[in-house]
This record gives sequence, structure tokens and C-alpha cells, in this order.
Amino acid sequence: MIKPRVYVTRRTLQPGLELLSSRCEVTVHQGEEPPSREELIRNIRGKDGLLCMLTDRIDSEVIGAAPSLKVISSFSVGVDHIDTAEATRRGIYVTYTPGVLTQATADLAFTLMMAAARRISEADRYVRNGEWKIGWSPTMLLGEEAYGKTLGIVGLGRIGSAVAERALGFRMKVLYHSRTRSPEKEKKLNAEYRSLDDLLKESDFVSLHIPFTEKTRQIIDRQKLGLMKKNAVLINTSRGQVVDEDALAEALEKGWIAGAGLDVYSTEPLPADSPLLKLKNTVLSPHIGSATHQTRSLMSEITAKNLLAVLKGEEPPYLFNPEVKEIRPLSEIKVF
Ligand code: GLV
Repeated sequence: MIKPRVYVTRRTLQPGLELLSSRCEVTVHQGEEPPSREELIRNIRGKDGLLCMLTDRIDSEVIGAAPSLKVISSFSVGVDHIDTAEATRRGIYVTYTPGVLTQATADLAFTLMMAAARRISEADRYVRNGEWKIGWSPTMLLGEEAYGKTLGIVGLGRIGSAVAERALGFRMKVLYHSRTRSPEKEKKLNAEYRSLDDLLKESDFVSLHIPFTEKTRQIIDRQKLGLMKKNAVLINTSRGQVVDEDALAEALEKGWIAGAGLDVYSTEPLPADSPLLKLKNTVLSPHIGSATHQTRSLMSEITAKNLLAVLKGEEPPYLFNPEVKEIRPLSEIKVF
């Protein structure tokens, strides 16, 4: 029996590759860097499945280069790098990895919140740079407290809710803004709904947990930043494009807000001339929301299981575009 052919755009952790190799003929892109666009297009030709990363732009040209493609399995929860509408139109199943990375990402949002509030990056540099000359001082590196403060969560999905759970332990007042209100979540998480403007006006910490779409592009713009409190800290572990980064740098520089904890940027890696790099009151991490051994290993397993399920003609654990079943039912896919 001919094995289905699969292209994997980066060497991932085990057990994913082992699982895939047991059933498919797998081509893995070698090296730390993502494949170039030409490599991607060349390698996707003739494949039944693609396992890609969020750094691979899977647009209509890439999809069009692979008429036999049946499934795109993304090693991410965000799918803004994939033209999902085009995939659906062509009967291609798009799968992703929600759920498994919720706790790791919520941990990072909380870490950035605490680090920005207590100026941890600045304090670390202060010690390393030999600036720590006086053993202890009543006024050295004063920051903000999180305990009992107000946390505004924009997007109360899986990750936003997991951040709210952590906030309960800090006796924080939790506000949220979401497309839809959820009375059950409000009760469970002791969270109060607010319009986006009111949430920004009332919160000491604002954490963003929304996907990047045309509707959320720069949803936090100059005007919205202007609504925030002077002592407020903005946390972003979702996508850089949901914030107007130039306006944010200005807000931080001019003291409209007190600080920021950022894991994501409109351009990644962050360009060397980004004004954010010069700001003291900003904690920066390099898109590591899901980067724990445990989570990345689970992501490797889920991406392989998602991909194999579709090729077997079975319901994948995490399907992003269920409407694709109307275009090409799973029974028509079954290649083994
Ligand atoms: C990370 O940003 C992801 O979408 O998984």
C-alpha cells in the first residue's frame, strides 16, 4: 500500500515525528530556520498532508501548489498564518492545537504581568550591570502590586479564562471583554463583563487573549491606549498585530501607561530598531507562550494525531474549519 506523503516544516519534538513516520512517508525540513517560500512551495507539491509552524505563511499560492493536499496541521493555536477560507474552499482540513497550550500560555501572561509590575528585567540588568551600589534602599526600583488589583482580560476563551483562574488566587477583581457574554464563566471566574473602553479605563492590568483577524487588527490603538490608567500595565501573549505597536511605544515612553509585558510583536523577530527595545518599563520575551517541554511535546503529538486522523478519514481531535466537511466529507479522504 502506498503511504501518504507528508511535509513537516521544522524538526519538532517527539513523539510526533515517530507517530507520523509509522504511517506516512515524511519529508522534514532540516535546520532551525523556517523553509523559504520557494522551498515550501517546492516541497508541498504532491503531498497529502502538511505539518506547519506559525512562521510559515500558507496562503492561496502555497495551497494552490499542492492539489493533492488534504490536511494542514498547524503546530499552534493561532491560525492567522493560514488562508483558512481558501483551504476550506478546496476541501482541505485545517487542524490546530488549542487546549494543550492553555496553561503554559496563561503562565507566561501571568509571569509577564508580575515581571512588568515588579520591574524584574530592569532589576536583573541593574544587578548584572554593576549598578547595585547600595545594599538596600527604601526607594530603589519601586513597582506596582498585583494582589487585590483589577485585571482586565480581553478575550475570555481558554487562555483568558486560565489567566482569570490565576487572578482569583491573587484576589484580583477580574473584568473581561469578549464578543459574547458568558454568564457561566462570569460565575465560575467571578468575572464582570465590561465594554472594551470601560475595561481599559478601570483596569490596573490588561491582558490580551484574542486571535488576530481583520476585526482585531490594532484593536488596541492610540485612542484605546489613551483610555488606560497611568499606572496600568499591558500584557500581550496573543498576536502583535492586535496592538498598534508605534502607539504603544509612545504610550510607554510618554508615561500614558506604566509598563508592558510583551511576548508577541507585529514583526518577529523584533527588528533591531524597534523603539520597544529602548524602553526600560517593558519586559520582552521572544514568542515563547507555549514553550515548555511538556506543552511542546504534547503539541507534537496532537499535530501528528490531527493529521493522521484526517488521512484515516476520522474526526481529528482539533479541527479549525468544521465547515470543510460539507465540501469534502472525511469518508472521501480516507487514504488508509
Ligand atoms: C502561538 O502563538 C500559537 O499560536 O500557538
